[in-house]
Amino acid sequence: MTKFIKETVDYLIDKGFQNPEIGIILGTGLGQLINDVEVIQEVSYNHIPNFPTATVEFHKGKLVFGTLVGKKVIVMQGRFHLYEGYTLQDVTYPVRIMEQLGIHTLLVSNAAGAINLKFKKGELMLIDDHINLQGSSPLAIKGIEQMGERFVDMSAPYDTKINETFTRIAKENNITLHKGVYASVVGPQLETRAEYRMLKIIGSDAVGMSTVPEIIVANHLKLKVAAVSVLTDECDPDNLKPVDISEIIAMAGKAEPDMVLLFKELIKTL
Ligand code: HPA
Repeated sequence: MTKFIKETVDYLIDKGFQNPEIGIILGTGLGQLINDVEVIQEVSYNHIPNFPTATVEFHKGKLVFGTLVGKKVIVMQGRFHLYEGYTLQDVTYPVRIMEQLGIHTLLVSNAAGAINLKFKKGELMLIDDHINLQGSSPLAIKGIEQMGERFVDMSAPYDTKINETFTRIAKENNITLHKGVYASVVGPQLETRAEYRMLKIIGSDAVGMSTVPEIIVANHLKLKVAAVSVLTDECDPDNLKPVDISEIIAMAGKAEPDMVLLFKELIKTL
């Protein structure tokens, strides 16, 4: 993998991706943040050597380098999911690339279902901890010890200081920002009632189909990392209605201004 990474990194440096400080993965509900980026350079994923190629049509599939509130950022416009048929190594490849380019912090967003029924759809949740239910690890590969530690510490995968800052910013701006545990499943099917019950019992507050692999690799690379979910549906097993994916996307859009504000104010402090 090291040889592939070098090839990708050399290509991007050549394209002008130089000295980025922060990497941002734009999930559903944070897409508009791109409008605040003064773009220096952007490249479609399918032009980047060794990059997985984008498939889900509502994701734009571009790597953008630019300035956001005075900081040099790399933005992943669209991410890769396990449910699209990629491997966990594909899904997390861009994180390794951003680290090699020089980022010190990774910020992640996603859409998730609310397992904790005190949390309402349209609200935001700061991820405090996670449960990996994707059946494997992006680190479970031969030769991983040549790329860093194998037995990565996960006692505090999300940066405490960044999370405190997020909490303060939310308070100052009257934004509801819950704090909780995110469980990652493979998808793409949504959960059954029995699965939602299980997710609650095991201690999750929200469920989604992304983020955890990227967080694991970010910890492997010793990056500072934080993640926020926009809660798009309420997963009440005793009152479950058929899910409507367009409703989920619409709900993510509703929370977007709050999410954008949180991220911009946070980035100013980094
Ligand atoms: N389950 C899994 N992923 C999700 C959900 C959900 O209920 N809502 C948004 N993403």
